[in-house]
Amino acid sequence: HAPLRVAVLGAGTVGADVLRVIGTSGDELAHRIGAPLEVTGIAVTDLGKDRGEHVDRALLTDDPASAIAGADIVVEVMGGIEPARTLLLEAMSHGASVVTANKALLAQDGVALYEAADANGVDLHFEAAVAGAIPLVRPIRESLAGDRIEKVLGIVNGTTNYVLDAMARTGASFDDALASAQELGYAEADPTADVEGHDAAAKASILASLAFHTRVGMQDVHCEGITSVTAADIAAASRMGRTIKLLSIVERVEEEGEERVSARVYPAMLPDSHPLASVSEAYNAVFVEAEAAGSLMFYGQGAGGAPTASAVLGDLVTVARQRVHGGVGPRESRYADLGIIPVDAL
Ligand code: NAP
Ligand code: HSE
Repeated sequence: HAPLRVAVLGAGTVGADVLRVIGTSGDELAHRIGAPLEVTGIAVTDLGKDRGEHVDRALLTDDPASAIAGADIVVEVMGGIEPARTLLLEAMSHGASVVTANKALLAQDGVALYEAADANGVDLHFEAAVAGAIPLVRPIRESLAGDRIEKVLGIVNGTTNYVLDAMARTGASFDDALASAQELGYAEADPTADVEGHDAAAKASILASLAFHTRVGMQDVHCEGITSVTAADIAAASRMGRTIKLLSIVERVEEEGEERVSARVYPAMLPDSHPLASVSEAYNAVFVEAEAAGSLMFYGQGAGGAPTASAVLGDLVTVARQRVHGGVGPRESRYADLGIIPVDAL
């Protein structure tokens, strides 16, 4: 199969790791997809920045519109509403499949993006937009599509979890903990989105829309961040055997005989024995409660370059396979040449 032309919009924390894996594991990905990936353009704002050996300088452009021209697949990891929105709509109108990690854009303009994907018969995947490396979007969108989800509850912002955890465990100040989260690549370009709860609210709106097959916008999510949580609050909670966590909760509620959706983000005091209380650093954890499945728990790294790149790359392989085979992957078995340890040697 001919190479698939991939445009990567953004080569920052996430984009650089996506490009590193494409660069180092290209043959393996080609094997899984059934066609090689050819990165044809990488959009950035600063052409002079040092980006390491895996970002081919010859492919850099500060004109993202030129990067998407002729692409089969556009990977959007630049963030922000514009120009990302216009670029993705444009790419889909030309038949490109899209992979994006942009929860702010999906929460604001998800409907326009889904409609463009449908109208143009292309894929739009966004596993990385919620909870970093944790497979959560696809389980809700696909695996649980035949069930009835009642509630999704958990920690979906790595930065605020990192900050609250550092304040509680090491006595770090809010500002120092946030600066570390930024250095580690967990925070949004403007970390206000994290600490004011807007990032978690965007994720809550995406989760509620998928879980309940409806449209829940950012404006429908009650949102309180962690900026008013003080060291004294955290110490007082600790003395009571409690831990403060930023929770995102979306659920179906019955009100006056009518079924409605409630979506909220707020800091809550959890008993130390609660499974969410022990979620540390930038990890995320999410419970999904469904009628037939019961309670499911998802846990893993919720932010950072490599974990988020894992989710982006999973989507990239999925959309690439769809373009090559019209389905999940090569039909025939394709095994890597790996030795197998005999059972009696284990
Ligand atoms: P980042 O480090 O700030 O990287 C953004 C990249 O996009 C940079 O390379 C920047 O160029 C480029 N860029 C921004 N605006 C541009 C424009 N108008 N034209 C061309 N290039 C532009 O951000 P990130 O942390 O990788 O996050 C990227 C996206 O992934 C965001 O939507 C974010 O919400 C999402 N996300 C991030 C994480 C995480 O843990 N970091 C996790 C999940 C999802 P320069 O390098 O020249 O500045
Ligand atoms: N800033 C986000 C967070 C990145 O801290 O969770 C992952 O979506």
